[in-house]
Amino acid sequence: MACKVIVVGAVEGHFVAVFDKLANLHAKNSFSLAIVVGDLFKSPADSSSEDDENISSLLNSEITVPLPVYFTLGKHALPPKVIQKLESSEYEVCQNLYFLGKRSTTKTEGLRIVALGGRLDTAITAGISKEKYLPFHTEEDAKALNGANSADILITTHWPTLIRSGSNVDLPIGTPQTEQCVADLCSTLKPRYHFSVSDEAFYEREPFFHLTEDGQPDPMSITRFLSLATFGNSSKQKWLYAFTIDPNATATATITPGTTASPFGVRKRKRQADDNQSFSRFSNGADHYRPTKSARPRRSQPTPQQCFFCLSNPNLATHLITSIATDTYLTISKGPLPTATTFPQLGFPAHVLIMPLTHAPTFSSVSEQEVRSATYKEMQRYRRALHSMLIDKTSSSLGAITWEISRADGIHFHWQFLPAPAELIQKGLVEAAFKVQAENEKYPTFKVKEIGAGTAERGDYFRVWIWYPEKGEAIGADAANGEHTSEDETGETRGREKSLVLSLPAGMRFDLQFGRRVMAKLLGLEVRTHWKDCPQTEKEEQQDAETFKAAFQKFDFSLEE
Ligand SMILES: *[C@@H]1O[C@H](CO)[C@@H](O)[C@H](O)[C@H]1NC(C)=O
Ligand SMILES: *[C@@H]1O[C@H](CO)[C@@H](O)[C@H](O)[C@H]1NC(C)=O
Ligand SMILES: *[C@@H]1O[C@H](CO)[C@@H](O)[C@H](O)[C@H]1NC(C)=O
Ligand SMILES: [Zn+2]
Repeated sequence: MACKVIVVGAVEGHFVAVFDKLANLHAKNSFSLAIVVGDLFKSPADSSSEDDENISSLLNSEITVPLPVYFTLGKHALPPKVIQKLESSEYEVCQNLYFLGKRSTTKTEGLRIVALGGRLDTAITAGISKEKYLPFHTEEDAKALNGANSADILITTHWPTLIRSGSNVDLPIGTPQTEQCVADLCSTLKPRYHFSVSDEAFYEREPFFHLTEDGQPDPMSITRFLSLATFGNSSKQKWLYAFTIDPNATATATITPGTTASPFGVRKRKRQADDNQSFSRFSNGADHYRPTKSARPRRSQPTPQQCFFCLSNPNLATHLITSIATDTYLTISKGPLPTATTFPQLGFPAHVLIMPLTHAPTFSSVSEQEVRSATYKEMQRYRRALHSMLIDKTSSSLGAITWEISRADGIHFHWQFLPAPAELIQKGLVEAAFKVQAENEKYPTFKVKEIGAGTAERGDYFRVWIWYPEKGEAIGADAANGEHTSEDETGETRGREKSLVLSLPAGMRFDLQFGRRVMAKLLGLEVRTHWKDCPQTEKEEQQDAETFKAAFQKFDFSLEE
């Protein structure tokens, strides 16, 4: 069954009139939901006392919102009263009115909606933006949304660069502000609909198909770009647009007349939906489900909006993020095992998480093979880059271990990276520590083997790479004990490493802190075994992130472009 959706241009504070209008239309059409693509509220700077009173009425539920209405940020900040409400209710302004957030992925009524509100602020260079309610976003915010992989509906305040090329549709006004990062996001997500706003004009581009990597038309992915005028605009341009969309429809492989090629040209890589990533902030999977406060997803099953590792989570601790590449990112660990003084050569803990952007419990559950392999490659690239940083900063006195817990019922898989004295590793003490601890816990025996992205492994596993830099001739390192040379990102041999894998049979109790516990003991940091026992102030975390970034900068391939 298809969903009927009504899209509304900028409302600019006239929500009393607009909700009235929607109530009328809804009575005749019974829409599933409405989306406001421009500003719902007036700029706080231009608000009169009447606007203010109407906002209070809205917040007190004295104004009826006739159907579920979703909105994001447009060109102005949200009114302070609305922010205050959202601070306590997360995304619900009042019954039926939901804030999508500035940078978000939301699934409702079976539709995946991706929003990037506000305008690009190139003056903000420090990663993804922390402000949830100001109308600015960074390039990293746009990149972070690539992790959604696909979208039914994309909403952006600004237009994608080059959107009008190859189009014969007239536009009565000059082209509104465009952004390259919006074009990149549209190319990556290949949304079925992309909506934006254009004050005094309505614009509907010819539909366009995206191109595959080798420049061939991909008829399975067609985007319709539309831009709506503002409510009450003097040119009487269209500010409402209704359409029907079947979230379950499989794309048709025919290109209808009038469809053009993507104005953005060829994108590096095709990315598709992964049905196993359920981006269900509002949906519990039930049909025709209306979001209510009481029916939020259960805490025990985080969805990307709540997942601590999903960049689309608006409450993410963004100050911990230190690098964002194409499919993956780096963040320093909360409550790191080492302190800033554990490794004086470094001056920061260097306990780092290498994270995929895709929300999935394991590598194997990333169903799109291309995304999986690109993610694995990039995670390895980060790992090697981190090794290079250690060589550079510590004159090869530190090695590193990196572990992964792969469990089908995990939440968002990742690798934990931790430095350790090279000498301990070279003498085999780290390997022994893992093996002995596994034995003590009556776990199965570690096997020395390389398993790549682990997709051939049956069932859950714990794996750890143990790496140390090569100082001159390595002694005793040979293939017989499973050790092999490791290369840095330039392909140069910069050390030796081995990979140990512990299979986790179904039903076995496995301590998720196992890796950290082994390393805590080995490094004499038992008191810091649990991350919750190692709280840092936000200022300390920021300090560690900055020191890390400075050290890593030389090796951070995500900065090259
Ligand atoms: C989409 O498919 C699911 C599962 O088959 C079904 O429960 C749902 O009703 C369908 N949604 C629509 C809008 O048709
Ligand atoms: C505020 O609400 C009143 C009463 O509902 C309405 O008449 C008026 O038009 C509203 N003002 C704005 C700016 O929407
Ligand atoms: C989702 O995951 C399950 C279990 O891992 C698998 O059987 C199924 O094929 C996956 N579905 C898709 C669409 O990837
Ligand atoms: Zn996640």
